[in-house]
Parts: sequence; structure tokens; C-alpha cells
Amino acid sequence: MTAMRSRVLIVDDEPDMVDNCLRILGRAGYDCRATTDPREALGLLESDMPDLLLTDLKMPGLDGMELLRRAREIDPALPVIVITAFATIESAVAAVKEGAFDYLPKTFSLDQLRVAVDRALRQRELQLENRRLREQLQEVLGLDNLVGSSPVMVRVFELVKKAARSEANILVLGESGTGKELIARAIHANSPRAARAFVPVDCASLPENLLESELFGHEKGAFTGAIRSKPGLMEVAHQGTVFLDEIGELPVSLQVKLLRALQERQIRRVGGTAQIPVDVRVVSATSRNLRDLVQKAQFREELYYRVNVIAIELPRLRDRAGDVRLLAHVFLKKYGQGRIVGFDDDVLSIFDAYTWPGNVRELQNIVERACALADASTIRKRDLPDYMLAGRPPVSAQASGTITSAVADVTSTAGLPLQEARERWMQALESAYLRDLLERHGGNISAAAKAAGIDRKTFHRLVTKYQLR
Ligand SMILES: Nc1ncnc2c1ncn2[C@@H]1O[C@H](COP(=O)(O)OP(=O)(O)OP(=O)(O)O)[C@@H](O)[C@H]1O
Ligand SMILES: [Mg+2]
Repeated sequence: MTAMRSRVLIVDDEPDMVDNCLRILGRAGYDCRATTDPREALGLLESDMPDLLLTDLKMPGLDGMELLRRAREIDPALPVIVITAFATIESAVAAVKEGAFDYLPKTFSLDQLRVAVDRALRQRELQLENRRLREQLQEVLGLDNLVGSSPVMVRVFELVKKAARSEANILVLGESGTGKELIARAIHANSPRAARAFVPVDCASLPENLLESELFGHEKGAFTGAIRSKPGLMEVAHQGTVFLDEIGELPVSLQVKLLRALQERQIRRVGGTAQIPVDVRVVSATSRNLRDLVQKAQFREELYYRVNVIAIELPRLRDRAGDVRLLAHVFLKKYGQGRIVGFDDDVLSIFDAYTWPGNVRELQNIVERACALADASTIRKRDLPDYMLAGRPPVSAQASGTITSAVADVTSTAGLPLQEARERWMQALESAYLRDLLERHGGNISAAAKAAGIDRKTFHRLVTKYQLR
């Protein structure tokens, strides 16, 4: 509820009708003003700036239709409800076409009136909020693309700006989908190296030997298939920034080589002898707890300190007060392409209550999907995926620990069509299987992937999909 009472202007040439409305709406807590003279109403519209206009259609002097038009000239976002006798129901429909929000028969019941007024006022609030957020959008940020106005994110942005100016290596921490790569790019773009290359390396995506030659390059004949020599990404990033994504997945042998390269500021290609000088700034990202990995001897401590000169920690989306709505509107603008202009307020409430296990990426996907499905000018509840309406993340994102308990979970699919149920069982089982395997291998993706007989890239994708960290 808004702190200020909503103001309603009531216009009807019949004094009884005016009294009736005044009584009902006054008792419901609205701040009401009324007149039996439609011309006086025009003045009140300008001087009082009401939140809602409730008007009769047939009035001497100035008819309701004309009042409606003028009212919307004064305030295009003003909702108008027309009151009409049954005999003139057609003109009521015409009024709605002209932009009236709703109409009521003269014989309205107390509840009918209250519901109509309530709904119109909520719609106005929504429009005003959409407008306010749009304006807010324009002010935020010297950092392009990075959206957020919550105090935690404002602090992150300040840190990003400061850290970017320095030459320090930066470690970006955060759950999947919190924007680590976006931050890494912002750091580069705001750094003195901005005119040089930004080179992303996904440490989780390649098997060890390929990753090595990807990072450091190789000489012709270094291994079968090395038909010509090729510079590595560290070389490509010379004088620029290398972005080591998911650095926690870097195999230990490569950690050692990377550490040496950073200490000596030079690299040697696979199969080569020459020392090649490289000047790179390293920005890394991880969704894992690197300190833990250090403790378990899965991550080299010296490398940890070398890449973690400044740590930037991205909070989970649900911990960024207000940003869900702000981001939702940014994505709506992007995917709605002017065709879809807002969210129904029950949609925004669902957004507020949801936990967003997939963080900003999940929000983005949901808005994109909703825009594709929407057939009205706003996103409605039914444009959201079912699991959001149920108020909890999909089975996959919260799958229980063991395979047996995943099977026991089958009861939660009762009532679903077989195909959908089957899909959920598969996901629950797959996720439980992967979690179990990960635990057995102390969280080591390479080892777990090997045991599962799939490559690290695929394994990592599944880990991300099921939010297993
Ligand atoms: N603050 C933000 N403002 C606008 N868009 C954002 C923001 N944070 C993330 N996004 C968007 O969300 C998506 C996910 O961001 P990004 O890829 O940077 O996350 P990530 O932390 O690297 O995720 P993962 O760990 O899964 O790789 C991207 O499309 C990105 O543009
Ligand atoms: Mg990423």
C-alpha cells in the first residue's frame, strides 16, 4: 500500500449518485473530491491531480466522453471509470475504447465499485512505477550495461571503477549468473588497457592438454595434429587483459605453469624453447570457494594470492534490494521491443518473492521467455514458467542429496502429465547422480567427469545447470 491516500475525483450530475460514491469510497479509505458540474471537474483535474476519475457518461454541459478525453490530455496515465445506465452500455464500451479503464452500471453494488476502483488504482501505481524505473535507469551507472541501484551493487560498481584504474589482478567471485563476466569486461573497458585485447579463457571447458596449448600456444610438431605453430591466448592478450573464467577448474599442473608465467612475465609455447615476454593483466572469476580449494591442496596458494590482489564479490540477486525489478525492466525494454510495456503487479510480487537460484541470467531468461509468450501489452502471470508460480525453483535446482531421496521425491510429480513428470524425474536423478559423484571426488570436476565418462566441459555445464555448488 502506498503511504499517501489515493485521491478520487467523482463527477455526476445526480447528487444522490455523488453522495453514494463519496460514502462508499470515503469509508474504504480514499481521499475523495466530488462535483455535479463536469466543467468544474476540468478545473479540479488540473488543480487536484487526482489518481482516479469516476464519471457519469450522460451529463448536461459537458458529456462524460468529452471529460474523459480532456482528462487524458491533462494526465495520460489517469485511469478513468465511467458510470453508465444499462440503456447506454454501448457508449460505455465506446468509452473503454477511448481509453477508459473500466465501466460500471448505475446499479453497481458496493463491492463492484470498490473492486473497480481498487483495480484501477493498482494499475496506475504500476504505470507510475514503470515510469519511475525507466527514469532511474537513465541516471544509474557510468559503467555501461551494468545495472543495479541496490547499496551492495553500488559499492561493487565503485570498487570496479577504482580497481579498474589499477594494474592489480582481480578475482571476481559469485554464484552462477551473477554477472562475473560482465564485471570482468567492465574492468577491462575502464582500465588503461581498454584499447588492447580482452581475451576470455574458459578454464572449465577444455581437457587439460588442449587447455595448455590454448593458453600458452604450441610450436609446429609439438604433438600430433600440430601442423603449424600457434600463439596461445596469453600471448594474444599481450598488453591487454586475460579473463580466466572458472579459474578454480584449472588443473593443478596448469596452475603451476600459469603461476610461473605470471611471475616471470614470459611464457613458453608447448614444444617450444623460446621465452616469449607477455604483459597481461589477469582478471579471474570463480563460482567456487578458492580458499577452500587451497586448503584441500586443489589450488596453489601462491597462485591464489597472485590472482586475488583485489577480490570483487558479487552478491546473489535475491540479496540486491530492489534490483530484481530494475533488471526486469531493463530486460523488458530489450526483449519487449516497445510491444510490451510493463509487468502486471502480481508478476512483480512473484519476482519479489522468488529466490532466483540462477541469479541475473535466470531473470533475463524468464523475461525473454515471457516476452516471447505474451500476447498483451504487459507481462502477465501466465507468461511465467509454472515452477515460478509454485513459488520454488525447478526440481533440478533443489534436487535432494541422494538418488534414493530423488526417487522418493516422485510423489511431488503426482498430477503432472507423464511426459513432464518423466522430465522431472530424469532431472532429479541426473542431478542427484552428479552431486553424489562430485562429493565422492571432493568437488574435483576433472576427476568426477572422468568417473562419469564424460568430458569436463559437459560435466561443468551440468554442474551449472543443476546449481550443484
Ligand atoms: N548487473 C547486471 N546488469 C545487467 N545485466 C547483467 C548484470 N549481471 C548479469 N547480467 C546479465 O546476466 C547474464 C549472466 O551474466 P554473466 O555471464 O556475466 O554471469 P556469470 O557470473 O559469468 O555466470 P556463470 O557463472 O554462469 O558463467 C548475462 O547476459 C549478463 O549480461
Ligand atoms: Mg561466466
